[in-house]
Amino acid sequence: MLHSWKVLGVGILNKQLILSIEGLCKTYETAGGSICALDNVSFQLEEGELLAVMGTSGSGKSTLLNLIGAMDIPTAGEIKLNGIYEEGMFKEPQATVYRRENIGFIFQSFNLLKDLSLEENIALPLVLKGETDADIDRKVTKMLEITGLNKWRSHRPVELSGGQQQRVAIGRALITSPPIVLADELTGNLDFNTSTDILQTLLEMKKVFNQSIVLVTHDPSVATYADRVLFFHDGKIVDEYTCTRTDEDMDIILQKFRHILERSA
Ligand SMILES: Nc1ncnc2c1ncn2[C@@H]1O[C@H](COP(=O)(O)OP(=O)(O)OP(=O)(O)O)[C@@H](O)[C@H]1O
Ligand SMILES: [Mg+2]
Repeated sequence: MLHSWKVLGVGILNKQLILSIEGLCKTYETAGGSICALDNVSFQLEEGELLAVMGTSGSGKSTLLNLIGAMDIPTAGEIKLNGIYEEGMFKEPQATVYRRENIGFIFQSFNLLKDLSLEENIALPLVLKGETDADIDRKVTKMLEITGLNKWRSHRPVELSGGQQQRVAIGRALITSPPIVLADELTGNLDFNTSTDILQTLLEMKKVFNQSIVLVTHDPSVATYADRVLFFHDGKIVDEYTCTRTDEDMDIILQKFRHILERSA
């Protein structure tokens, strides 16, 4: 059951929280000493929300995604999914089950398996889930249509452009309809036009599957696609902005990003 509440007096606003991040800390112990990558980070993600995360290099953005995806274990804090904190969610085998059921990852470097065809790459999460061949065929065919990749279904990743490879990666991340998608610099390796195309693909798919997305980006124009932007510096959230879908968004996001870049200069 999703957690929901009503705001009385201003009509009924039904907000469904999918993630509550509470007091999240991550300290890495290295030969050179302790590194505090995340320092008491708290925020919430609503169902269907596209949240952009911006910040200086080393400010903890990828660490945050790794923790939300249970790829790493926090030093302190909790991640509640639909209002519930599962004590063992970061330990195996629960972490793998949590990931398979809830998370789709998209990385800057695509991370496709080079020996598999495009359709085999997209099908992989379904195969790992043990779905039937008939279900896999049906879902992959639909995904190839949505991503516009049908023509290349038997090709290997090396035969595709960067933009096409990223569309395969998006297809693979969304094929199981995970409620949460984590994207780390998904357009970081692509030119402006291809980035726009990829973001449109992501938004189109979001309309179909209604995912909640956490999108890490260095690019203010990418962040304007979001509903809300969190700004990170030194492992902390130092600023926030709710997009208004006006020309103002780009200016304000740029201004806020510049401000945190100056703090670290
Ligand atoms: N596995 C690790 N072991 C030790 N230190 C780490 C590890 N992963 C990250 N760190 C450190 O934690 C801090 C945050 O790293 P993180 O990768 O989360 O930053 P980021 O915001 O994603 O940076 P970028 O924009 O460059 O990708 C950095 O100081 C980094 O050196
Ligand atoms: Mg990173």
